[in-house]
Amino acid sequence: MCGIVGYIGDKPAYDILIKGLQRLEYRGYDSAGIALVNSKTNVYKCKGKVSDLEAFIKGQDTTGNIGIGHTRWATHGEPNDVNAHPHESMNGNFVVIHNGIIENYSVLKEFLKEKNYTFQSETDTEVLANLIEYIYEHNKVSAEVAVRLALTKVIGAYGLVVVCRNETDQLIAARKGSPLVVGIGNGEYYIASDATPIVEYTKSVIYLNDDNIAVIKKNEISLKNLDNESLSPEIKKLDIDISAIEKGGYEHFMLKEIFEQPRSIHDTFRGRINPELLQIRLGGLHPVLDTLSNAKRIIIIACGTSWHAGLVAEYLIEEYARIPVEVEYGSEFRYRNPVIYKDDLVIAISQSGETADTLEAIKLAKAAGATVIGVCNVVGSSIPRETHAGVYTHAGPEIGVASTKAFTAQVTVLTMMALKIGSMNGNLSESNYKEIVAALIEIPGKIERILLQNDYIKKLASKLKDVSNSIYLGRGLNFPVALEGALKLKEISYIHAEGYPAAEMKHGPIALIDANMPVVVIATKDKTYEKIISNIQEVKARKGIVIAVVTEGDVHIKNMADYCIEIPETHDALTGLLSVVPLQLLSYHIAVMRGCNVDQPRNLAKSVTVE
Ligand code: G6P
Repeated sequence: MCGIVGYIGDKPAYDILIKGLQRLEYRGYDSAGIALVNSKTNVYKCKGKVSDLEAFIKGQDTTGNIGIGHTRWATHGEPNDVNAHPHESMNGNFVVIHNGIIENYSVLKEFLKEKNYTFQSETDTEVLANLIEYIYEHNKVSAEVAVRLALTKVIGAYGLVVVCRNETDQLIAARKGSPLVVGIGNGEYYIASDATPIVEYTKSVIYLNDDNIAVIKKNEISLKNLDNESLSPEIKKLDIDISAIEKGGYEHFMLKEIFEQPRSIHDTFRGRINPELLQIRLGGLHPVLDTLSNAKRIIIIACGTSWHAGLVAEYLIEEYARIPVEVEYGSEFRYRNPVIYKDDLVIAISQSGETADTLEAIKLAKAAGATVIGVCNVVGSSIPRETHAGVYTHAGPEIGVASTKAFTAQVTVLTMMALKIGSMNGNLSESNYKEIVAALIEIPGKIERILLQNDYIKKLASKLKDVSNSIYLGRGLNFPVALEGALKLKEISYIHAEGYPAAEMKHGPIALIDANMPVVVIATKDKTYEKIISNIQEVKARKGIVIAVVTEGDVHIKNMADYCIEIPETHDALTGLLSVVPLQLLSYHIAVMRGCNVDQPRNLAKSVTVE
């Protein structure tokens, strides 16, 4: 949601903080701010992007070797200068940046008002800053103790970093629910919401756990829990490379990530598929192999694009492993008293591994005794730590807010999982299994071929860029892809787009079709091919504009559709991995032509750590 960065060491903090905020901007971008610790500890913040903050700071004092920075995605209070972080406590003793939500902030605010505290902003964070200060002054304790005691009074989620103006040799960081990573340098420490601002300086990191408080000085870090017990930090090695978080010559991260898919999918199955034996090995699932083989029901929990990957998994698991699957939105699952059995297998899918609704749904499923496995992209994030077992997607950092390569990596993992379960429980024959595995190995090369059509898809985009509405249709495994294609278009171009199962069109959306309505139909040659041809005819009969994604060499649909994008033939089970790619490119080009900020679409955030 919001992005947090901090530095303590001998280097000028300003450059590190600004660069870090730029790297974190994908997490939130409605306002930004920094605090630089020097004789005064200056706070600068404003509405807008990090570039607006830089312009605002120009010419002002940027000295200091310690500092904190924040890029915001508003939850409490509209995006404006005052609500931007950092927040200062009323008497100026504390400066705080925070990601998360303090749920009991109004009770705490009333308490503080009774103590004559006044507030500048509408944020929950300022309440926390004042609570820390109240305890600090009232109890006459150190900054560290004040932060700890304040946090024992807080209900909600936080990743926060605190500067005390009277103890300026340290940063105090704490985590509950919202991620924080500490980077260990030489006589310096970095802190951030994720590793992207840290990776260019150090690969040694400590992931804070829930209820951890870290007191970070130039040359030492001490870690405690909220009960004031000392903990020994576990040092991990980052395995991401700086090039993975830069645009590498592409105009946008989204385009780079679309083009990375041949490699990212390969990375997803590399080391997990034996290309000679055509066998799959998913080491992360070994602790739960028995549960997988004997599963009677699978519940998939996810949000957004990950939920669409979950729908693909439902089709595959039911087809090849013959286990009933339910696909749930995290937010719905957790609030509707779902029936969960002890022998249920729950699969939680999340690119970020931090989505609050998915995380809470997992906790609910675990509490009911189910076995939970994670399919996540960000290594060390909260969901993999909360689950019994899991498989990382290894797509590499995804920076564009609209998910692309993470989706295809999720589908790749879930396909491998479906095949594995099907072969373990005896519902998938050896020959079928091997046939699909062999086809999966060829997917990266086939995506390369689709990407060669980028210029053609761009031309197509120029014909569609001015529409206001659109419909996406697909059947079978291409239905989730239709949903995903529609989501991509609406999130980055702000064109209204609806994904529908093609046959359902006649129960509603058909009423919308006229000569101005583009209808994207995924009509690859699979078992529903004939049926989807009828759906195309229904659209054409009402003069709709048909853009069809077809299997290479299909002349039949070419004669009916207004525009066609060809994709290579593959095994039916894998069609979604290919058909989604042209839809990603189409949305991308339409959004660019409409002048939209594709990497940072309005109102959205990459990682939604609030409910
Ligand atoms: C946000 C992002 C989407 C993502 C969804 C779920 O809405 O903008 O791209 O699909 O969250 O996120 P997750 O990290 O759990 O996959």
